[in-house]
Amino acid sequence: MPPWFERLVSDHAKLRSLAAGLAKAQPTAARPGHEQLQDLLLFLDQHSKREEDTLFRALAPTLPTGRGPLAVARAEHVALDAVCDRLRLAMAVPADHSDHALAAQTVRHDLPLLLNLLERHLAAEEKGLFPLAAHLP
Ligand SMILES: [Fe+2]
Repeated sequence: MPPWFERLVSDHAKLRSLAAGLAKAQPTAARPGHEQLQDLLLFLDQHSKREEDTLFRALAPTLPTGRGPLAVARAEHVALDAVCDRLRLAMAVPADHSDHALAAQTVRHDLPLLLNLLERHLAAEEKGLFPLAAHLP
């Protein structure tokens, strides 16, 4: 098992914990859990880079690049990055700005999308890529 593998496993647990906290906070607040959402976005960004530098790099020589689980995981990282970027932009709109209502609507729309994409992505990696990585030296 490579030295970085356990860190990725614990990252996934932390991501799920952050996501669960956000999902609980969501229905009650007018601007749902922005500090918690910032925490999730920051940690997800750090984790994705860590995963791309270790897991994806280690599996790249043995898996096809244009199809299969590694290609899907890379595409999912791009999709997650896009949603995260949109959320960061929306959260940066000040409350007194004329676009604030639209930005708040974007957060309300994209947060459940992010949580759904994230859980599906984590589960797919754990089913497809993690078992392969666990057998690496
Ligand atoms: Fe990932």
